[in-house]
Amino acid sequence: MFKGAPLAQLGTSTSGSEARILELEIAEVTYETEDAISLGFVVAERRDEYLHYEPGQFLTLEIPYADSDSIARCYSFSSSPARGPLPTVTIKRIQDGVASHWLHENAVRGMRLKALKPSGMFGPENWDVDFVLAAAGSGITPMMSILETALFQHANRITLVYANQNRNSVIFADRLTELQSRFPDRLDIHHWYASDSGLPTAAGLASLDTRIPTEYEALLCGPPQYMNVAEEWLTRTGTTARRTHREVFSSFDSNPFRNNDSPLTHEPDSDSVTAEVEIDGISTEFAWNTGTKLLDRLLELGLDPPYVCREGTCGGCAYTLTAGTVTMLANETLDDHELHQGVRLACQSVPAAEPIRAVLDR
Ligand SMILES: Cc1cc2nc3c(=O)[nH]c(=O)nc-3n(C[C@H](O)[C@H](O)[C@H](O)COP(=O)(O)OP(=O)(O)OC[C@H]3O[C@@H](n4cnc5c(N)ncnc54)[C@H](O)[C@@H]3O)c2cc1C
Ligand code: FES
Repeated sequence: MFKGAPLAQLGTSTSGSEARILELEIAEVTYETEDAISLGFVVAERRDEYLHYEPGQFLTLEIPYADSDSIARCYSFSSSPARGPLPTVTIKRIQDGVASHWLHENAVRGMRLKALKPSGMFGPENWDVDFVLAAAGSGITPMMSILETALFQHANRITLVYANQNRNSVIFADRLTELQSRFPDRLDIHHWYASDSGLPTAAGLASLDTRIPTEYEALLCGPPQYMNVAEEWLTRTGTTARRTHREVFSSFDSNPFRNNDSPLTHEPDSDSVTAEVEIDGISTEFAWNTGTKLLDRLLELGLDPPYVCREGTCGGCAYTLTAGTVTMLANETLDDHELHQGVRLACQSVPAAEPIRAVLDR
């Protein structure tokens, strides 16, 4: 169910939140456009071991901020494990953006950065069905990883609609052109330039001469308005996506690199339920107060659950509920199919009916 290959042994210590943290070293810096750089990473001190990740997942980097403090920012992998071993993320500089500016100004080969192990739930479920990908701006990053993996390891067909401000802001323009000429029968790319055609609309996307398969998975990444428009366009084609996945790019306040995120300990109250949670194969049974979020309770108990944003947007705390019922206070990332499969977000789950059993598997 969960993405992510065996990661626990990579460059980590084994206790507390440190077990989730890697030290990475920048091995390659590539200037993609005036506003986008790619950083390729190796695991510091363990160069013979590769960082395992799944197409569609992201890396969370710790970025220095205000001398002694830091902030955390997520960046989707733009590389494909099918094409080479150097995991790479691509960062678009945005106006007044703290981390994106810092990385553009400071990232050099040899620099070390702390990172959380790759996480996230975005990506196709079935590599045998065709894909329709809709990206805008830096939203192309997970799409590159997914489409290259599909082209080099699978046999399905892919339609990509990629919206940008203008031709100069297209990240990976040459790579996409090369892939299009190498896989003309399997890859169908359409660019949308706001400078020529205004902001994309459903009618505008429908006017592109796209090849929409009868059965496909749709993957969308860009501003929410763009993803809404892309979904409306697909609905208008009269086709039905087997699944539609969305990835929201946003910044958040939580800092998963700091231990002080742990909440205060609360005694079990009279309404608490019994829960059994397995993390990396080790089960713990505990009392869980009705108003407390699962992630907070696990941290309170001194356990080491995976998490990133604590806001219900990144999917980094996803787990499988195998018994009982929980209520999710927010969910910006899991789709209906995942919910139906029992996937839930630990940072947003409060208990509803016991006995509750859950499995967190990085
Ligand atoms: C799962 C995931 C994957 C992602 N993948 C990528 C990726 O592949 N590539 C990529 O480039 N980005 C990606 N992002 C986005 C990335 O994590 C950052 O959000 C992005 O780089 C901006 O961070 P920043 O620190 O530069 O900007 P921030 O400082 O967080 O600012 C963000 C924006 O908010 C505005 N802003 C900030 N503070 C205020 C304020 N007080 N009042 C009003 N406006 C304000 C800024 O002007 C700026 O426009 C991803 C995010 C997620 C969650
Ligand atoms: S930690 Fe990001 S969704 Fe829960």
